Amino acid sequence: MKKIRIAIDGPAGAGKSSVSRLTAERLGYSYIDTGAIYRSLAFSMGGTDVENHSKIRELLKDFEVSFKIIEGVNHVFLNGNDVTSEIRTEAISMKASSVSAIPFVREALFNMQRKYAENGGVVMEGRDIGTVIMPDAELKIFLTASPEKRAKRRMLELEAKGQKVNFDELVREIRERDINDSTRAVSPLKQADDAVLLDNSGINLEQTVDIIVKYAKEREAE
Ligand code: DC
Repeated sequence: MKKIRIAIDGPAGAGKSSVSRLTAERLGYSYIDTGAIYRSLAFSMGGTDVENHSKIRELLKDFEVSFKIIEGVNHVFLNGNDVTSEIRTEAISMKASSVSAIPFVREALFNMQRKYAENGGVVMEGRDIGTVIMPDAELKIFLTASPEKRAKRRMLELEAKGQKVNFDELVREIRERDINDSTRAVSPLKQADDAVLLDNSGINLEQTVDIIVKYAKEREAE
């Protein structure tokens, strides 16, 4: 049985993080949330404007993100500091989306992401994993759901953390981010030709994971 590489791409709020983490857990694989890398960069910028490219280049020189699952939660460490909850605000979501559209940023983070995949046995989640970061992944999933369904999930998630949110505003932000992420010039959000399209609007988290694990087991046995 070989350890494979699994790429899970899709728009914001499709449930990629939970699905990827649980899939990795079921298979005994490591889990890499690449969105958290862009979010960490956005966070490290503080008040810096996304137009301030020289400052962003400087930040990238001393930029390291690592992960550790602690009691079922994927903790994100930025240069050794736990930024797990700080990177999950809507302000950081928007800023991460903007900074991720800068070509030199994607270039700088390319090698970092390739390294995580070196040894196989990995579930990597993002927007361009199947198309750019691991084009040779043994299994690629394009996970999606309707914007309303995604906004609803995000709302429940944020409310659980005590953040007050407006549903219509969330739908608007999700649509805006979809447009940002899929129309940018470099590495736009796009389904790889050989990816399995999985729309989970009508199924729950466990059912989604079951489907992916089934595909993975087939590929492991090939
Ligand atoms: O998956 P997320 O919401 O945590 O991602 C945050 C932002 O980072 C998202 O707007 C798009 C960007 N991103 C990207 O451009 N490429 C990736 N592989 C992952 C995320």
